[in-house]
Amino acid sequence: MIKIVTIPGDGIGSEVVASALQVLSALEEKHGLEIETEEHLFGGASYDVHGEMLTEETLDACKNCDAVLLGAVGGPKWENLPHEKKPEAALLRIRKELGLFANFRPAKVYDALLNASSLKPDILSGTDFMVIRELTGGIYFGQPRGYDRERGWNTMVYEQHEVERIARLAFETAMKRQKRLTSIDKANVLECSQFWRNIVHEVHKDFPEVELNDMYVDNAAMQVVRDPKQFDVIVTKNLFGDIISDISGMITGSLGMLPSASIGSDHALYEPIHGSAPDIAGQNKANPIATIASVAMMFEHSLSMQHIADEIYTAIERVLESGMRTADIANSGDSIVSTTEITDAITANLEVS
Ligand code: IPM
Ligand code: MG
Repeated sequence: MIKIVTIPGDGIGSEVVASALQVLSALEEKHGLEIETEEHLFGGASYDVHGEMLTEETLDACKNCDAVLLGAVGGPKWENLPHEKKPEAALLRIRKELGLFANFRPAKVYDALLNASSLKPDILSGTDFMVIRELTGGIYFGQPRGYDRERGWNTMVYEQHEVERIARLAFETAMKRQKRLTSIDKANVLECSQFWRNIVHEVHKDFPEVELNDMYVDNAAMQVVRDPKQFDVIVTKNLFGDIISDISGMITGSLGMLPSASIGSDHALYEPIHGSAPDIAGQNKANPIATIASVAMMFEHSLSMQHIADEIYTAIERVLESGMRTADIANSGDSIVSTTEITDAITANLEVS
């Protein structure tokens, strides 16, 4: 029995998670899997009922399952809450409590969508790299932090074991791919980054087959746009990874396409990269592909069923090749389909393949 906790969250979250569940139940039937799903509240949806974004009940459920599937959290309704009560703070807490220290964000271009990107097709074509972002350390969590009337401050700090475990995972990932790793830092300015770099090089000794390349974060941001094909695996700290993964995501056309996996030693959480998009919530317009692809990542990383993950990716590709487009990936002249229409098409494709 596979136990999955689903957290639709806010905004378009419930629509895209519903799409993912439809795909999941088609796969369950096709492969005779036994999947139990259990829905929990998180974010604004939880705040409105319980007065807190993340309850102990939701946290416990997330700790007692094989994987968590999250839609999106947040929205204008909860924006003016004090900092520590905001949905973002709850997201950081869930990452920390579940020990999700590694965040995988693939930047892979679907051929059918080459024209959806702001980059020229020949620069983009063939791009396929993985950003691995450290997720439970660095400036996001460092103490002291705060602000008063005169000053604001945060602390960027990494422990040796935090850098070592993410570096190891990045080298292992590179070994399964093209064996090229780019470590992104700001070692020319930040001591914390020099420390990061030293440890990455230490770990490299255990993976001599991997070609390691250090890159400053400003240059990396430029290189991702200039020549994205040069990258295979990128590893970087929390804050730099936040920025680089958005740039990398967008070159592929739409954040609506991109899944993510947040992984720790005992738990895992899968979610689309995009946010809750309150402007289109409840209108059956959202692109569910990122969430459906997050289910594929779940089959890869948590359930070790690569063949099912591949089936999902193939179904997505076929549907895109057939010309179906949600609004976010449509060019002028394309006819636009709804969330449920594209989900039905992907599900039908899975059933026949
Ligand atoms: C992300 C988001 C979050 C982050 C926010 C919402 C806290 O931007 O997952 O990339 O900065 O980590
Ligand atoms: Mg971000």
